[in-house]
Amino acid sequence: MSADEQKKKAAMRAVEMVEPGMRIGLGTGSTAACFVKLLGERVKAGLSVICVATSEATRQLAEERGITVSTLDETPEIDITFDGADEIDGEVRMIKGGGGALLREKIVAMASDRVVIMADTGKVVETLGAFKLPVEVVPFGLTATIDMIEALVSDIGCEGDIILRKGANGETFVTDNGNYIIDCDFKRIDEPEELDDALKFVPGVVESGLFLDICDIAVIGEDDGVRIMEAQRDDDIEGV
Ligand code: A5P
Repeated sequence: MSADEQKKKAAMRAVEMVEPGMRIGLGTGSTAACFVKLLGERVKAGLSVICVATSEATRQLAEERGITVSTLDETPEIDITFDGADEIDGEVRMIKGGGGALLREKIVAMASDRVVIMADTGKVVETLGAFKLPVEVVPFGLTATIDMIEALVSDIGCEGDIILRKGANGETFVTDNGNYIIDCDFKRIDEPEELDDALKFVPGVVESGLFLDICDIAVIGEDDGVRIMEAQRDDDIEGV
């Protein structure tokens, strides 16, 4: 079974968690797009929900599919968010931002009662970091920001190239928020919490793609079904 088929399987299981009247956060990326299309089918069949999108691309897709899209300012409390991930470890800690939407994804996730991550099996790893960690940074003082990141993260055992992301057109990739993304090739991140703290110490860093203690459950599409990974968190995940 291909990764795309596994993503669809995960999205099909996730969309079953949607109940009428819910305020839903919509993630970004190919798995989230699968979910949006499936949700659109349920909306066409009469389901009433209000959604908040984590990117302009997702907002456009949702509206095309007949889904009502609000803003986070109009709908600041979200019942449940469905999103994808680039890597997920055994503690359901994640790297996100491969699609460049990490800041809005994290803002929406943190405004949500529950966060459900959908993924194919290839995203599940023992140790985070083989996927280059995306970090959103302000354009001003980019070189100073990268220098400071390099100095701080080497103290906690993270070393590797830090690459300014380019778009498909070869130009510097600009996020929906007008910022840049740097991709950090650390190969393995043994202490994600320490790394996240170090990154946030740097003034030019807007947000890191480490999503720690954010996901409630991950729905992993596998060849012969769906696997649910539950995070050990203080808050309850009753009803999912
Ligand atoms: C978007 O910024 C990312 O966080 C995506 O959620 C992540 O890259 C997963 O993308 P796919 O679902 O396309 O694999």
